[in-house]
Amino acid sequence: MIFSLEGRSAIITGGASGIGLAISKLFASQGGDVHILELNGALAEEVASEIRSSGYKATAHEVNIADQEKVKAVIQTIADTGGVDILVNNAGIAHVGNALNTTEADFDRILNVNIKGPYNCIHAVLPFMLAKSRGVILNMASIAATIGIPDRFAYSTSKGAVISMTLSVAKDYLKQGIRCNCISPARVHTPFVDGFISKNYPGKEQEMFEKLSATQPIGRMAKPEEIAYLALYLCSEEAGFITGCDYAIDGGFTRLNN
Ligand SMILES: NC(=O)c1ccc[n+]([C@@H]2O[C@H](COP(=O)([O-])OP(=O)(O)OC[C@H]3O[C@@H](n4cnc5c(N)ncnc54)[C@H](O)[C@@H]3O)[C@@H](O)[C@H]2O)c1
Repeated sequence: MIFSLEGRSAIITGGASGIGLAISKLFASQGGDVHILELNGALAEEVASEIRSSGYKATAHEVNIADQEKVKAVIQTIADTGGVDILVNNAGIAHVGNALNTTEADFDRILNVNIKGPYNCIHAVLPFMLAKSRGVILNMASIAATIGIPDRFAYSTSKGAVISMTLSVAKDYLKQGIRCNCISPARVHTPFVDGFISKNYPGKEQEMFEKLSATQPIGRMAKPEEIAYLALYLCSEEAGFITGCDYAIDGGFTRLNN
């Protein structure tokens, strides 16, 4: 089987919803031993048990990725039970606002989850990957990191850091067999998008959904599964020559919008 994850364990943060859910299901179906690190422990348990009932491997771990001690403890448990081969830093949160109306509390909250969260997970998995001279780290950035998007000050800032973090890790561990890449999606239809539309545009949900869909030249949002296929490729052995890259998956958003 190409893109097989047989015999490899994969940690997916935020793996119970949206893009992370699609990644958890796909990686498990490719033979991976999936570990879902989630703030929403009940949902993670539901997803893991659904994956197991299809005959694949999945375990739920309730954890806030912004909490370094807890992240280290969970990843130690995973390492003890089967090793750590793949980390997908997918969990992230949205925020609408510009530099003037973004409060300090909101700025800290976004950076804590979207930057410190991936750092915490990378920090915790590296000793296990270095011990094997092998590992793959994939971070979820966003086209918001490289394109000016209105009213996404804290969010865009956080995703810019994710791209820089990707390059730094890719460079530092190049010779030790660890690859690190990131994916930059444009809009993907997930609860993340539905949540910020209903929170920020109450009563105009349908209109905003159509407006946001039309911002991709291709005329629609991505499906979470379409992002998961790219994640699978980048985490597979077949992508062994790829490190230090940021892959746009955007329906033409970055290059074809004019
Ligand atoms: N949906 C999009 O349009 C889009 C576009 C570009 C990038 N992204 C990025 O993709 C990633 C996933 O987005 P999604 O749309 O699937 O989101 P989602 O809201 O559907 O799912 C995110 C999951 O992360 C979990 N999570 C949030 N904070 C956490 C924390 N502190 N610790 C552990 N788990 C936590 C949530 O419980 C949730 O299950 C995010 O990093 C997001 O920034 C999304």
